[in-house]
Order: sequence, then C-alpha cells, then structure tokens
Amino acid sequence: MIAVRGREALQMMRGAGERLGELFLQLSEVVHPGMTTLEIDSWIQAELRRKSMISQTKGYHGYRHVSCISLNDVLVHGVPSSRVVVKPGDIVKVDICAAWRGYCADAARTFFVGEVASVGKRLAEVAEASFNAGIKNALPGKRLFDISAAIQTTIESSGFGVVRDFCGHGIGRHMHEEPEIPNYGKPGAGPLLKEGMTFAIEPMLTEGDFQVFVDASDGWSVFTKDGGLTAHYENTVLVTANGPEVVTRVSGR
Ligand code: MF3
Ligand code: CO
Repeated sequence: MIAVRGREALQMMRGAGERLGELFLQLSEVVHPGMTTLEIDSWIQAELRRKSMISQTKGYHGYRHVSCISLNDVLVHGVPSSRVVVKPGDIVKVDICAAWRGYCADAARTFFVGEVASVGKRLAEVAEASFNAGIKNALPGKRLFDISAAIQTTIESSGFGVVRDFCGHGIGRHMHEEPEIPNYGKPGAGPLLKEGMTFAIEPMLTEGDFQVFVDASDGWSVFTKDGGLTAHYENTVLVTANGPEVVTRVSGR
C-alpha cells in the first residue's frame, strides 16, 4: 500500500526537505580538491546535527556513514573513505537521507571539481532534465509509471543508459517505503497517484551501457561494468492538488 499523508505530515516533509536542500547549498562551498570523501561525510554529519536532523543511512544494514559519495564511474552508494581524495576533474555525487521531527527527506546532487569532461556535465544536465520531465506526471489521477516513462524517454533520447538495478521509492516516516519507482516503464501503467503521496525520485544514468555491479571489496559501491561515467539526481517530491512539490529544492537548485 502506498501511504497517503495529511497536512501535518506534509508540513514535516517540507521542513525536512528545506533543511536538506539548504545543506546541499552549503555543501557546494565545502567540496574542494584535496579533501577526502570521509572529510566531506564528517562535515555533513556535523551540519545534520546543527539542523536537528537524524541520518537515515548510518546504521542502515550496517552502513556507517551519513552520506553516500560516488565519484565518476561510481553510480551510487560510494562509501566515504579517508583513502578517496577528491581531485580536479572529478564528478562528485553526494546522496543524503535524513529525518527531521520523524519525517525523512532524501536528495542527491553533483559537484564538479575543477574542469570536468563535457560528457560528465551533459550527463548531470540530463539527469536533472529527466527528473523535471518525470515529476510533471506526479499529479493526482496519473499513474506511477507515467513518471518512470518520462524519465526513461528523456534519458534515452539523449543517448544515455537507464540503470535498471536501482529505483526511486516512496518516503515518509522511513527512508524506503512503497512503491518502488523505476526510471523506466510504460506510460499509463502502475498504481494510481493520489494527493498526499510522497516520493523520492532519482534518475540514475550511464554514459554507455546501463549494466552495473556492486563492488565486492566494500559491499556497497555501485560501478558501471564498462567503466563509463554516471549521473544521479534525487529529490523528495509531494503529490499535491496543485501539482508536484519538490521539497528538497531551495532557491531553484
Ligand atoms: N539515500 C539512498 C537512496 O536514495 C539510500 C542510500 S542506502 C545506503 O535511496 F545505506 F547506502 F546509504
Ligand atoms: Co533515495
């Protein structure tokens, strides 16, 4: 069953989203060459505390960090490490899920360090564009896979690959709730969307082939099989009578 939330719960989701969106704006001033991904995670941990937010990833199936930081050909779930140093040319994707007053927000952003390959920038642009196309369908009366299909069409018409092994998800009191939200699918299919549903929508795309694998050495990092670059963009979205409301986007970013 997909939860339908009332006014007060939606207010908490907005509060969580605004705080997380704000954190990402601050983070853009923090990420710089020479920093390790563990240092970035530590900064995020301190900032979440200042914002009275509780990480939803620390302790999740043994995961020990408050963010996933995925570089270049790592699509998602990169594990912050003192051995991973951010350098010019890197595409750094940071994914954070945290709760405020019992409700979660989940979002991911990309940071370019120095001059990055133009295909990397293009991937990140298409990730955001596919998200925007997808949420146009996050309306009461539409079907879930209308969102999925719009994401898929945007990505594939740009010549990039749509990852099949990971999906978006419902979100609310928990980081992962029903339904699963694939980034591919048939328009007009899937569950009926209703006012008060709350989703984490997260296109994941690849420069080349869409096949990925989980690194055996850390058990988390998801790499492309062909070594191609990747993009991931995520926001928490409310389905309202007035249209989709992106709670993790502050000042349009
Ligand atoms: N925030 C991620 C998502 O978008 C989940 C991260 S799972 C972790 O669903 F445990 F690896 F952090
Ligand atoms: Co998510």
